[in-house]
Amino acid sequence: MGRVKTLFVCRECGARFPKWAGQCGDCGAWNTLEEAVATRQGPAASRFAGYAGEGAAAAIQPLSRVAAGEAERVASGLPELDRVLGGGLVQGSVVLIGGDPGVGKSTLLIQALASLSESLSALYVSGEESAEQIALRARRLELPTERLQLLTETCVERILALVEKRRPRVMVMDSIQTFYSEALSSAPGSVSQVRESAARLVRFAKESGTSLFLVGHVTKEGALAGPRVLEHMVDTVLYFEGEAGSQIRLVRAIKNRFGAVNELGVFAMTDKGLKQVSNPSAIFLSRHQGAVAGSAILVTREGTRPLLVEVQALVDQSPLGNPRRVALGLEQNRLAMLLAVLHRHGGVGMYDQDVFLNVVGGVRVTETAADLPVLLAVLSSFRDRPLPEGTAAFGEVGLAGEIRPVPSGEERVREAAKHGFRRILLPAANKPRRAVKGIEAIPVKRLSEALRRMME
Ligand code: TYD
Ligand code: MG
Repeated sequence: MGRVKTLFVCRECGARFPKWAGQCGDCGAWNTLEEAVATRQGPAASRFAGYAGEGAAAAIQPLSRVAAGEAERVASGLPELDRVLGGGLVQGSVVLIGGDPGVGKSTLLIQALASLSESLSALYVSGEESAEQIALRARRLELPTERLQLLTETCVERILALVEKRRPRVMVMDSIQTFYSEALSSAPGSVSQVRESAARLVRFAKESGTSLFLVGHVTKEGALAGPRVLEHMVDTVLYFEGEAGSQIRLVRAIKNRFGAVNELGVFAMTDKGLKQVSNPSAIFLSRHQGAVAGSAILVTREGTRPLLVEVQALVDQSPLGNPRRVALGLEQNRLAMLLAVLHRHGGVGMYDQDVFLNVVGGVRVTETAADLPVLLAVLSSFRDRPLPEGTAAFGEVGLAGEIRPVPSGEERVREAAKHGFRRILLPAANKPRRAVKGIEAIPVKRLSEALRRMME
């Protein structure tokens, strides 16, 4: 194969140059030239790898005539993974799994692939580990490996030449940063290599109907080409998260063309690989001996599933002129806003207090239902008085001090009841129409009312 002609394209203005330079000669931007394969369609073509099949003549047609069956799905053998994928792996889809090195991406995928290999032809391509290492891990995890195919290779063209013949139904590429295309001269892991290799693989997946998992490391500084540049090319983007020192691993969908986003899969890393946690509420609640000050239980919703998590606050006299507001697992600006609402509508000022907030178990809560429990935890710590035992809460707090409803109120109440909570503080508009057995619903309309009910 002859060398493919490459050129350098400015990320900012799109100007093309035959040689690399530190500054774009056209727009004057620094460090924006990237290597790209020269194509007649222009340099941008490689960025948006053609799904429609490049070169194929396109025709305008009525949408109603397009044959579109329900996407065929296969179970990966890990229901928690299937859940984030939107109910199983879609044939021909491309899934990017990003995460910090060492979080367990290879472990998750070898487990899923081994299980898939029992019903489909499956191939694991590794550019990182040796065949022995992978075999050793699979054996230690006691996975069924008789039908699992393995390839250790880093050149995309050679990989594609091999899989063209075999046409596996599902394929894992671990990791995208280690693969390179011969078309480019830049090093594996550079933005242009990652993008070009991924584009070729995605094109293969779309043409052959192979389901493809791409593994991508996220580096803290983003110095290496993170998987972010790939997000628009793939169908589904999953992030694999876990806190250092914790066994719990969360798989979160960031983008999904075949399902809901913000669906959460929960695993625990054990010495026998990743184990599914099908009842996550139980692990995110720390079991205190009796009630403690500064702790509130929130009923949040991740995707389609309600989840009980504990919000902890620590309020302490601040030695600083500008007290600290630290929120882990919640948005910092929202905390500042809530504290202002607490002052204006609850009559409690925190201007001389440091406020620290943490969601237990490394869960990230992005929905506004956390507002009410956050303020309860803060006030409970400030007063050094625990909330009444067996109480959960949810609800959005508005700037006017009103408690606003959130989606799926009744489902949240049921989840709290299921885990033995006896009382739940909730927005008046979320009060279940019929009483839920075993739990008393306390509907509130205003923040002042909520604080009165809980802190007296
Ligand atoms: P790995 O899947 O190699 O991470 P990644 O591919 O995301 O870089 O997993 C690495 C960590 O997982 C490693 O530090 C050891 C741990 N681990 C276990 O605790 N139990 C196991 O059974 C396996 C296979 C790994
Ligand atoms: Mg790995």
